Formats: sequence, C-alpha cells, structure tokens
Amino acid sequence: MCGIIGIASNKAVSTNIIESLKRLEYRGYDSAGLATLHNNQILEKKCTGRVEKLEKILFKNPALGSVGIGHVRWATHGVPNEVNAHPHSSEIVSVVHNGIIENSDQLKKDLESNGIKFKSQTDTEVITLLLTEEIKNESPIKSVQKTLKKLKGSFALGIIFKSFDNLIVGARRGSPLAVGYAKDENYLGSDSYALKSMTNKISYLDDGDVCVLTKNSVEFYNLEEKKINKKVHTLSDDKNLAEKGDYKNFMSKEIFEQPITVKNGINEYVDKIKNDINLYNFPIDPKSMEKIVLIACGTAYHSCLVAKYWFEEMSNIEVEIDVASEFRYRKIKFNKKNLYIFVSQSGETADTAAALQLCKDNNVKTCSVVNVVESSIARNSDWVLPLHAGPEVGVASTKAFLGQMLILYILCLKISFNRNEVNKDEYIQKINNLIKLPKAIDDILKKEDQIQLVAKDIYESKGSMFLGRGTSFPIALEGALKLKELSYLHAEGYPAGEMKHGPLALIEDGLPVIVIAPKDKYFEKTFSNTQEVIARGGKVLLITDKHEMVINENIRFKIDVPFIEESLSPFILTIPLQLLAYHVALLKNCDIDKPRNLAKSVTVE
Ligand code: G6P
Repeated sequence: MCGIIGIASNKAVSTNIIESLKRLEYRGYDSAGLATLHNNQILEKKCTGRVEKLEKILFKNPALGSVGIGHVRWATHGVPNEVNAHPHSSEIVSVVHNGIIENSDQLKKDLESNGIKFKSQTDTEVITLLLTEEIKNESPIKSVQKTLKKLKGSFALGIIFKSFDNLIVGARRGSPLAVGYAKDENYLGSDSYALKSMTNKISYLDDGDVCVLTKNSVEFYNLEEKKINKKVHTLSDDKNLAEKGDYKNFMSKEIFEQPITVKNGINEYVDKIKNDINLYNFPIDPKSMEKIVLIACGTAYHSCLVAKYWFEEMSNIEVEIDVASEFRYRKIKFNKKNLYIFVSQSGETADTAAALQLCKDNNVKTCSVVNVVESSIARNSDWVLPLHAGPEVGVASTKAFLGQMLILYILCLKISFNRNEVNKDEYIQKINNLIKLPKAIDDILKKEDQIQLVAKDIYESKGSMFLGRGTSFPIALEGALKLKELSYLHAEGYPAGEMKHGPLALIEDGLPVIVIAPKDKYFEKTFSNTQEVIARGGKVLLITDKHEMVINENIRFKIDVPFIEESLSPFILTIPLQLLAYHVALLKNCDIDKPRNLAKSVTVE
C-alpha cells in the first residue's frame, strides 16, 4: 500500500512526479502529496483525495525544483486528511513512506520527552523527526543508516534533505522499492510500473538495502552498510496495455479482455500441434512430489481454492491451501518433497511475500504464479509461471483471477499426466477442451444485457448471498467478494450445504441469493438448497450450464452459460458474477476502478 516516487534530475520534476503518482494510485488513493527542493527550501504540497486534485493545486501554485519525492497514501496510522498525507517534512528533511513502523509509539514518546513536537498522527513523522536530529551531526546516508537501526516493522522510504539539492536517499525493509536510470535523471519508485513511462532500465533493492541517487549517479549499500552493485534489468514494453481505450473504466476493459487473457495463457503454455503442455524444469519431479501447498491472499486465494478441487479430482497428490497472513505465522512442518506455490497478481503482497520468505528460510522448493514478472515474489521463487495477462489496473481483480486459474489448471493437468494419474487420452481431451475456453468466455460476455437486468433488480438490497458446492463454492466466494469490493453491498459466499447451519437465518423476503449450480455431481443437492431459499422468500438468480433443466417459476432469474466440460466450469461461471458486481456498482455510482478503502497492491500486513 502507498506509492512512492522520487526523481533527481537537471530539470523541473513535479510534472513527472504527478504522472508517476497517477500510475501508483492503484496502491492507495486517500491522499497525495509531493515535496521538492527549491532555493534551499523544502516545498511541500499535499491534499486528501486523488492525484488529480494535487495536480490542480500545483497548476495554481507550482512546485519548482529538480529534485523531489511524491506519495499516494493508503492510511494506516491516522485518518486520511491533509496533515497526515505524505510527505512528512521538517525544516531540514522530507520523507515519504510505505509500510508500518511498529515501534512508532515508543519512538514518539522518546522524542516528545525531548521536547520534540509532532504535527500528524502518522508513524512516518517519527522517521522525519529522528532524521532531523541525526542529520545535525551526520551525512545524509549515515543519518539514514542510524535512523533505520531504531525502526521496527517493514517499510520503503524516499527522503530528501534541504541542504543537499541533488540527492534522494531510499531504503527498503520488507516493502518493495526500485531504482530507474535515464540520462541526467534517476528515479526511485515503489515498483517498476511507476517508472515505466520514464525508463525501462531498473534495479531492485533487496531487504536492508539503502540507495543514494543524484541526477547522474546511483549508489547502493547493503544491510552491513557496504557499497554493493546491482543488476540492471531491462523491462518489457507493455505500456499500451495499461490504457483503458474506449472503455468507461479499467475494470470493464479487463472483464472484456478475458477471452484474450485465456488465449494468451493457452498460447504460452499449450502446444496445440503436439497436444502437450510446455512446462519443464519442475523444481521437484512431479512423480516424487508428496504435497502441493498453495498460498495467496484475496482473489488469488480463491483461485487456489478452485485448484485444490482440480488436483484432488485429477491426481492423488495431497493439497493444502492457506491464506498467506495465516500461513506465515503457523507452525508449519516443512517438507522438502512438497512444492509450495505462491499465487499473486502483483507479486508484491506483503503477506504472500513473507510466507514465501518463510519457505525459502526453510529450504523448500517454491513456485510463483504471478502477473508481474519483475515483482519481488517472482524474483524470490525457484520457479516462476507468469500469467501473461498484461497489466491489471482495476483494484478488484478480474482477468488476473482467470489467468491464475488457467495456470493452476494447466499445472495440475501436467503434474497429473506426469504422475500417470491422467492417461494420454484424457490429457489430450482436456487440452482440446481447454482450447475452446476463450470462445465460451466470449459467448457469456455477450449476455451482459441480461445481467444488467438482474443488477437493476438487486442493487437496492441490503445484502446478498452467493451459494455453490465443489468448485462453485470458491466461485461463490469470489462472486461475493467482487460485489462487496465494487458496490459495498454486503455479500456472503457460502458452501450451499452449510446454509442450514446458520446463514439460512438471514434469508428473508426479497434477499438476493445467487446460486451457482453447474451440471456436476452436486447439482441436485444445490438445487434442493435453492428450494429451501425460495421457501423462505429468497430472490434467486440461478447461474447454470444445465440447459435442459426445467425452470421453476419461483426462480427469479436464470443465466445460462456455455458448457465445455465439468472441470472448466469455474472459468465460465465467474464471468456473470464479475458483470453483476460491475453493474450493481455502476447503478450505485461507485468508483469502480478504485473502491473505497482498498488498494491493488497490499504491501502492509
Ligand atoms: C488486494 C486486491 C485484490 C487482490 C489481493 C491479493 O486486496 O485488492 O484484488 O486479490 O490484494 O493481491 P495479489 O496481487 O497478491 O494477487
């Protein structure tokens, strides 16, 4: 959460800081700010709300200077107001920060007992005021190194100093930070995406690193304060994919892009001529794998839940799944014969990254399924399986979810085949069916009108419920999550069979209940649960691929989706749920790409 940018240049930097902050807004958008150095003074501008507002402020009142730092905030300590917005400056230093300083209360007390006054409620101001003391006797780099020793928690920092008009110091502990290079200009950024419009030459800081930037030099120091060299990576050019084109917002573009997302994934991993899956260099031979452990957060976690059913159906391998924030603190019995798989769109989610590090520390083999191949999680894993979904900008994940399921499905199929648990005929049949998926997704996207009608019918409800069994249970969870995230309408996802153990009490006249019931072994049972809902006044939307089914007149809406084969139904059933959440949010006038209180890349615990 929170986005950091820093630019040291030989020309004015505020316009490029604003442009980079716009690219970083997916990390937080409750307030924004920047600080530049001009005429031996720190010029600070900040506001609540979006970068657009900051841009307007600068338009009337420009921030001059060829060195500057900027920030978009996702509040942790202190409400989102102008005072709490970053940068946090004293007369001498200015700081932008992503992460949490866990011992800020104690440090604040110590500083206050020395008569030092605080302006904000943030943990960040502690860093500003510690640095303000240190810099009196030390060089900028030494003052940062000494301050860092006092801080607990995880963070990334960008710092400028009033008396050094061509200098930015950056530091990383836990939260990601990158450096970019150009002629007569160097950059600091929370991620490479923020810097992409200015350069494609990037280095990444490792944990404990400090960097010192001027307009024509970059130096790195490690935790032991030794000067080190860094690899310079050249980024791929996918700038255009991050534009929304004729779409109203990124989310609708990303929903409608999904046939292409799936096609790209298939083209990347499936050899259609040889009817084979191109996955090699397994870190553990699939035949000797004892268990697969899948770890993720949010929507990515739902893709793992679906994958668990696939692995259990197709192979004999044991599967365990966990949300990263739980996994990282559990007393895990690590096993070198297990493969630990981390699923993440951004590849920067703090909990997932920490869970991966725990595995690395325990010397077990890791694989990451990520969209951003330059991300920390990808760089830290033994084996990387990219989604090839292109940049996903909408905060609520859509195309990355389909991409994650696709890679996990392909992985499951290949592992099961290599272990002789799926035979050659089944393997070829499944590959052939998979190739039909983009067309089926395209077909369901054409049903947008029908889904709009449902949205109109439910958008004023007080709550809603999503039910499914088997792989449709995680899809119900994902449908409920999308509706919550986008439209702020309360939504619960439940295994249909659990209804009677509590949630049934919530069913009352007119409560929308979305039932996901493909034609699988669970269909009849799910349908009986649907009757229980109808009997209590629930307003049912049934999403199914069982076209031959006679519709019960008490079902308010039925959306028919295409059928290819049972194991592929999660891909197809997800689409109407994304569209439903999208249209409910549109009717409620919600900010679709940037839902309140959320952020796309969650880099704090
Ligand atoms: C945030 C996003 C979600 C995403 C989750 C995990 O909460 O808003 O859309 O699913 O983080 O992110 P990751 O990048 O690890 O997939």
